[in-house]
Amino acid sequence: MFEIIPMTVEHIDGVLAVEEATFSIPWTRKDFEREMTENNLAIYYVAVADGKIVGYAGMWHVITEGHITNVAVLEDYRKQGIGDALMAQLEQVAMEKEMIGITLEVRISNAPAQHLYHKHGYRAEGLRKNYYPDTHEDAVIMWKYTPFYEGQED
Ligand SMILES: CC(C)(COP(=O)(O)OP(=O)(O)OC[C@H]1O[C@@H](n2cnc3c(N)ncnc32)[C@H](O)[C@@H]1OP(=O)(O)O)[C@@H](O)C(=O)NCCC(=O)NCCS
Repeated sequence: MFEIIPMTVEHIDGVLAVEEATFSIPWTRKDFEREMTENNLAIYYVAVADGKIVGYAGMWHVITEGHITNVAVLEDYRKQGIGDALMAQLEQVAMEKEMIGITLEVRISNAPAQHLYHKHGYRAEGLRKNYYPDTHEDAVIMWKYTPFYEGQED
């Protein structure tokens, strides 16, 4: 069992542990402190299981759009629906705040994440060439639009 709750400064140690176990270019403690204390656009949730943080996801609310910054789940806790639940939580916030859509970048080689995003209705809409400094890999730009998109004037 796990629960999804809003991230606070108290969760930074746990989120950092997930981050460092997951990404080749991890965000630093300062990055997460800035997200929690200075960035008014930031919307972050953590997944808690067995008394510890096992995953997190974040998004910036940029004008009328959601820009996902990161989604990560500790390896031992993957394939149990936690990534799904974190994505669903961000989508719920996007609806509450009447965002027109959510966008993200994902490594072209990252099939598990792309499956997760496809399952949630995200579609590839472009590439950012050489996006990742470590491997020079391209990023796939994905978007999921909400019903509020239809209300936009041209
Ligand atoms: C991507 C990630 C967050 C998925 O988390 P998770 O908790 O394992 O995901 P879930 O168990 O909720 O799975 C949800 C869906 O994701 C997809 N998925 C997850 N793991 C997968 C895998 N290894 N292969 C293929 N599809 C996978 C499936 O579509 C799955 O739905 P299904 O079980 O109904 O088929 C996790 O693998 C992770 O942290 N990866 C490393 C970090 C990362 O790549 N983050 C994204 C950066 S853009």
